[in-house]
Amino acid sequence: MSEAFRVGLLGHGTVGSAFDELLAERADAIAASSGRKPEISGVLTRSRGSFDDILEGADAIVELIGGLEPARDYTLRALEAGKAVVTANKQLLSQHGDELFAAARRTGAQYRYEAAVAGVVPVIRVMRESFAGAHIEKVHGIVNGTTNYILTEMARTGASYADALARAQELGYAEADPSEDVSGKDAAAKMSILARLAFHTSVHLDKVPYQGVEEITPDDIDYAKEFGLVLKLLGVAERLDGGISVRVFPCFLYEGHPLASVVGPFNAVTLESPAITEITLSGPGAGGLVTASAVLGDVVSVMSSSGMQLEQIEQLETVPGEEVESAFYLHLEVADRPGVLAEIAQILGDNAVSVKSVVQKGLGENARLVMVVHPVVEGHFMKAVELISRLDLLRAAPRTIRVIEEEFVG
Ligand SMILES: NC(=O)c1ccc[n+]([C@@H]2O[C@H](COP(=O)([O-])OP(=O)(O)OC[C@H]3O[C@@H](n4cnc5c(N)ncnc54)[C@H](OP(=O)(O)O)[C@@H]3O)[C@@H](O)[C@H]2O)c1
Repeated sequence: MSEAFRVGLLGHGTVGSAFDELLAERADAIAASSGRKPEISGVLTRSRGSFDDILEGADAIVELIGGLEPARDYTLRALEAGKAVVTANKQLLSQHGDELFAAARRTGAQYRYEAAVAGVVPVIRVMRESFAGAHIEKVHGIVNGTTNYILTEMARTGASYADALARAQELGYAEADPSEDVSGKDAAAKMSILARLAFHTSVHLDKVPYQGVEEITPDDIDYAKEFGLVLKLLGVAERLDGGISVRVFPCFLYEGHPLASVVGPFNAVTLESPAITEITLSGPGAGGLVTASAVLGDVVSVMSSSGMQLEQIEQLETVPGEEVESAFYLHLEVADRPGVLAEIAQILGDNAVSVKSVVQKGLGENARLVMVVHPVVEGHFMKAVELISRLDLLRAAPRTIRVIEEEFVG
């Protein structure tokens, strides 16, 4: 009989209990292929188990408590004891990654976190292994299933944001308190983890500005259809002159973009590197069993590997958002009178903003002007919008949403 591989399980909630069941179901098959049978050697919850005993009796720790403390303390103690740790905890990695990876490097302990980003979509493994030698220029993706479901539902049915959110909650795609998801903070934590891995640099959650989907209206989605655009909440991490930029924002994509067709609660991540152009990985992004399956994959990987750790080799600066270039969608409600368009065009032109396409609709005394502008330094665009917002012909605050121009077709 081969020696057991003892897994100390911290947390037995949605993911922890699914992991417990999945491991029991798959243990024999894993033993047949790896030569060691994984088993749960101890479980810690608020009411059960002792961390010290679990650590002592485990070959690896699986942390599925979530949050910062005591997850940070337990993870640090396990890594310092040289024990492998597998986690799904994006908040912890995005805020204490430096400290935890440093501990893992010091002791040579493995620290695995596939389940922390995009559920079972193997984006961490592809970046760590398949792309280990590649120079990654850009990672962008739909890394929050709740908001992708909401935006898909708004586009499909014309529902308001509030109705689409209520539907997501009914179906279990959104939590009772959805604020981390809809504000973009959950996606920002995941982008901080992806950016660290892509660019081998420290990217704290504080360095990732984020915007959510709460302000999106069905009108925005409807108008943009006329330009062939689809709205998504995207995380974008890219190398730029002078450093990197990591951000989360709602933005429009042209229909030919690989992320435009990702619908419902699915996640997808596109990796770009000069050697491989681009690949997109997609699949289910959350849920107890899906996440547990990614955790189990990491446990099996830990069992059969000696633990190459990510080295942090660069300290890249974060480029301020106003210096980054983006294309934009601009939605203006204006007085319907001669010369309005010329006045607005003048301000845009004075600030180096060039219009790609425009649609104008009369609304009685007022008119709606919806346009897409070519990529421009964001600071210039925002200055133009600020000047336009002061015009007395304006009937409502201007609405702006970024547009990603890449299409990857033909
Ligand atoms: N749910 C998902 O779909 C999903 C998807 C991706 C990633 N994740 C990540 O997976 C992790 C776990 O999420 P979850 O949804 O399974 O959470 P959960 O259902 O709330 O379960 C948390 C578990 O941790 C235990 N726990 C909490 N505080 C503790 C403490 N101070 N000491 C010991 N045990 C403690 C809880 O114990 P009690 O049972 O005693 O309350 C519970 O068993 C989180 O990092 C989350 O971000 C979840």
